[in-house]
Amino acid sequence: MKTIHKICLALALILPACSGGQPQHPAETPALKDVYKDAFKMGAAVSSFDLSGRNPELVDLILKHFNTLTPGNELKPESLHPRPDVWNWERADRYVDFAVEHDMFVMGHTLCWHNQTPEFFWNDKDGKPKSHDELVETLRSYIETVCTHFKGRVDAWDVINEIVSEEGGYRDKGWVHAFGGEEYGDEIVKTVFRFAEQYAPDTELYYNEFNVWRPSKLEGVLHLVKMLQEEGIRIDGVGIQAHWGLNYPKNHYVEEAIEKIAALGVKVMITELDIDVLPLSKEGQIIGQAMRDPQFQLEEFEEFFDPYKDGLPEEVEKELADRYEELFQIFYDHRDVIDRVTFWGPHDGSSWKNGSPIPGRTNYPLLFNRDLTPHEAFWRVAAIPGK
Ligand code: GLA
Repeated sequence: MKTIHKICLALALILPACSGGQPQHPAETPALKDVYKDAFKMGAAVSSFDLSGRNPELVDLILKHFNTLTPGNELKPESLHPRPDVWNWERADRYVDFAVEHDMFVMGHTLCWHNQTPEFFWNDKDGKPKSHDELVETLRSYIETVCTHFKGRVDAWDVINEIVSEEGGYRDKGWVHAFGGEEYGDEIVKTVFRFAEQYAPDTELYYNEFNVWRPSKLEGVLHLVKMLQEEGIRIDGVGIQAHWGLNYPKNHYVEEAIEKIAALGVKVMITELDIDVLPLSKEGQIIGQAMRDPQFQLEEFEEFFDPYKDGLPEEVEKELADRYEELFQIFYDHRDVIDRVTFWGPHDGSSWKNGSPIPGRTNYPLLFNRDLTPHEAFWRVAAIPGK
């Protein structure tokens, strides 16, 4: 065999992405959780619908590649406790029991958040704002009820989600707004983590946040962790939500965030990973609902905003693969401090990115296509630990 052929064959074996002929059937892929078993847990946020068995191949894919699950919506306050006199456990129990039965690390997402939380958490039955003490009691009894219910089945809680502002203070929304504004942020964080420590003693306790890479926001997250540590309140880790794009955030920001959080001695997790390939959010996170305005559904915007309805062009497939490869290289290089990487969804068809920030588009943010075949990005990610 000519030397050049030998080199090509060797490359094709170690770097499936370069072979151009990698298997397309989902059953022929290596299991991500095995490929990364010495690095970190590999997870996905999946829904009850995904686990329902209506698509048995999807359940196989989830069980094959992931050893930790995050319920997309099932354990959020509006799902568990939609009205003052109603608690819904059935769907959440089925979900959590499925994960326990399959020996997966189960994430409780999330106890305290400004979103997907009914108004009655903050206002009394006459619609009047609750007093300070009533708010503290609402938090206490909710955390007690939920953590006690899932005791021994949920392994870790996202205790608070997204309370830090882009500037590094606190967002004046939800609980912060109900308590009276930003100056109550520190108190709320301490109160909530104290209750979590009290009622969920055998679980890990995390803070979860988006745009943590932004230096001003990172300062706010570091402040939150240090404050809890100085008060002797337990926090075990920080989840860096990774709703990112093809060219943002810049890699050095991601590395700085991982390293500065790890320097505080807590675990780092990459949570909610997806890479938006569509305008405008392939280049930056759009916060808020502005792009839901019906004008953006008009015919004249369609070609620009929703360009890949009939399939992902090869050059974008490659850009997606390059982006995933560089990010997983960073994660793998930091495997001594990263405990878990979780994708926000198992495949493109189930991603929230088809509906946000603009509804009704066709996005390709994950490692698996709608028909569960792997993207080129899958092979690049799978090749990193063996390099
Ligand atoms: C946030 C939340 C998740 C989920 C995603 C979008 O980042 O933490 O629970 O709602 O947004 O789907």
